[in-house]
Amino acid sequence: MLNFNYYNPTRILFGKGEHTRIGSHLKNVSKVLIVYGGGSALKNGTLSRVQSSLEAEGIEYFTIGGVRPNPTLEFAEKVKNIAVDSGLDCLLAVGGGSVIDTCKVAAAWAKYDGDAWDFFTKGLKIEKALPIATVLTLPAAGSEQSMRVVINHNDLKLGTASEKIRPMISVVDPELFFTLPKNQIAAGVVDMISHIFERYFTNTEHTDFISSQAEAAIRTAMIYGPKLMENPKDYDAWCQVAMVGSWAHNGYYGLGQVEDWACHAMEHELSAYDPKITHGAGLAVITPAWLRFVSNVNPSRMQRFASEIMGKETIEEGINALCDFYKAMGMPSRLSEFGLTKEALEVCAKSACERTGMIGQFKKLTSEEVLSIYQSVH
Ligand code: NZQ
Ligand code: ZN
Repeated sequence: MLNFNYYNPTRILFGKGEHTRIGSHLKNVSKVLIVYGGGSALKNGTLSRVQSSLEAEGIEYFTIGGVRPNPTLEFAEKVKNIAVDSGLDCLLAVGGGSVIDTCKVAAAWAKYDGDAWDFFTKGLKIEKALPIATVLTLPAAGSEQSMRVVINHNDLKLGTASEKIRPMISVVDPELFFTLPKNQIAAGVVDMISHIFERYFTNTEHTDFISSQAEAAIRTAMIYGPKLMENPKDYDAWCQVAMVGSWAHNGYYGLGQVEDWACHAMEHELSAYDPKITHGAGLAVITPAWLRFVSNVNPSRMQRFASEIMGKETIEEGINALCDFYKAMGMPSRLSEFGLTKEALEVCAKSACERTGMIGQFKKLTSEEVLSIYQSVH
């Protein structure tokens, strides 16, 4: 196992009704910008309950909606401008990963004189940011506890990480997830499982403590995810899935080991190429294809995946069972289902390796290998 240095200051307020008390937890804050997405939070009343909670505490707030899925740098700039012009001291995201990531970019940009794209393209570290609070409405990306941020700009989708953009406080209130459409529930479950896979598939040895817990977390998502597809208002099932989602990406499952991230890199190319592609749905297609491609790299780890997570004897059976799970959750299994052409895959494969040469750590992949993974599930 490798040394690690782990610090996660995000306060999590978990459970029924917690979003109606968010104001009382923002004691040192006087002027807030609430940011939301395309309107679900407005329609289902979450936004007005959050606003009432701030009013009850005498916190002044502004509100801006309109963040799209696979959010853009341009919208983050709008948020940043309001934050700077109005002298705000906190950004409050009410939404899923796209809204939270918009706030993360804006929070860093508000403390930086240049263009925030520099953080994504020039290796510039985010050293300062406005405080961020979140009211999560979709457990999937794990951005409510993560130090990562991903943003679309100029046909690219790039990510970066910094301790400075971990939210100071996040509400995870499972009742807010009751209005989610089934495709978003399924994509969310796929995404959180992938966040654990990206860490679980490692060549680092002696990682038993974390690996066993990763297996338990994935099994939990696989038990309770399907229950939510049957009944999206199953509070107890949401509690389990939301715990997996929020912990999946806070760094815990990667402690002391080299992480992979090839599947995410390959998926981000797809949802950069066509922002209508839902991140989790893209991962549902890519992940089994990647598993087949790397199945001989580290047989004991692959075998452990098959037996401890999928309950199967062979690696092949394990991968097939994962495909069956994604299928049962209503996820696509071919890239052509997104309308992606062969030419599009060539563009994505080239772009995936353009900045770093190769992607992944479990097995480092060239752009030719990325293309062959894409083509295997076209
Ligand atoms: O925009 P509204 O109208 O709110 O609708 C949203 C959106 O259409 C809807 N939704 C959210 N909560 C809802 C709801 N609909 C009904 N009821 C609710 N309670 O869901 C749709 C998708 O929302 P979005 O925020 O885009 O989804 P998600 O949370 O999956 O976030 C995806 C983004 O996060 C990035 C992805 O790449 C993608 O850009 N990621 C961010 C990460 C991070 N910062 O650590 C890590 C991830 O790996 C991921 O890459
Ligand atoms: Zn993800």
